[in-house]
Amino acid sequence: MSREQRKLDHIKYALKLGDGPLTNGLENVHFVHNCLPELNPQDIVLSSQFGGIFFLSPFLINAVTGGADAVTEINRRLARAAKKAGAAIAVGSQYGSVKNKTNYQSYEVVREEYPDGIVFANTSALATPEEALEAVRMLNADALQIHLNPAQELIMPEGDRDFKGLFANMQRILDKCPVPVIVKETGCGMAARQVKQLLKAGFTCFDVGGAGGTNFPAIEAERYGGTAFLNGWGLNTAQSLLEAGGVCGNEGYIAACGGIRSGLDAAKALALGADIAGMAGNVLEAAVNKGEDAAAEIILQAEEELRMLMLLTGSSDIKSLRAKPLYFTGSLLDFMQCRGWEPAEVARSRR
Ligand SMILES: Cc1cc2nc3c(=O)[nH]c(=O)nc-3n(C[C@H](O)[C@H](O)[C@H](O)COP(=O)(O)O)c2cc1C
Repeated sequence: MSREQRKLDHIKYALKLGDGPLTNGLENVHFVHNCLPELNPQDIVLSSQFGGIFFLSPFLINAVTGGADAVTEINRRLARAAKKAGAAIAVGSQYGSVKNKTNYQSYEVVREEYPDGIVFANTSALATPEEALEAVRMLNADALQIHLNPAQELIMPEGDRDFKGLFANMQRILDKCPVPVIVKETGCGMAARQVKQLLKAGFTCFDVGGAGGTNFPAIEAERYGGTAFLNGWGLNTAQSLLEAGGVCGNEGYIAACGGIRSGLDAAKALALGADIAGMAGNVLEAAVNKGEDAAAEIILQAEEELRMLMLLTGSSDIKSLRAKPLYFTGSLLDFMQCRGWEPAEVARSRR
């Protein structure tokens, strides 16, 4: 199957399957209601910092596509939506395009439509430093995402099997890259151990890409009629945020992604330590089926909800949202206990 056909298939099956079967886990994270918020909405600031980049609003339309003529229009709509909503945007993997020097226009359209926006380039961890830099140059990108997707590769018949040497290659990219490098999962999440290993090597930006939203092992299984045994694989977004946040402290930046579908999801993710929140599958669905205004509306609506939740929790900025009381329920409690957190301690420390 050609790379271009695969890009189209990913969109087709992502739209067909939607989210799940796992949830993002944020349904097990709860704010404690504040009946006396003492805050004027005018004093609420949504700005954030990620990798030294200033975000006026903490939303990102995450990496989806590019690399085929047929998807240029989708990237145009996504870029227009990002511009309208004042969100950042990432393009889909540029790896094949840069390698073969083809289909640049399908990505360049994003920068053309959004000249002063925050735009992230995206490549495979297999890219050479030169290829990674070409991906950044193509978009005059503000940062570079390096995606990790081992579970997807294993279910895809033509996928990579040999993951040895990826880490060393990523370090070579980091050494050469003039913009922040974001290590990004694509829907199976991140654990503390790998985040720690990456931090030690100098990586400071992570997109946890947790389970609970778009599910690439399921997409590949559906495309090929293959095995569904990894359809429930991975750390969900809430678990990944706890894991990454636990080791990052003030040393790293975290993007929450994976089934973020509302301002409430985003607020909980930010409260768990994320600096920005990304959405992909739902914004793609709106852009394809309803157009760029509907895609922008998803972000604008989430932003409005986030603003209300900040008012309701008495949080004038994202930093103060991060200190607000939370409690945890359901399977997240088991996870926390097994992984060494004492949920009551975590809740008490924010009381
Ligand atoms: C059709 C489609 C294609 C994607 N392609 C890429 C990609 O090329 N590179 C990447 O890093 N992530 C890619 N992603 C993953 C998203 O950026 C995101 O990490 C994942 O979908 C989880 O977010 P969601 O649940 O909001 O969709 C893709 C997502 C979709 C829906």
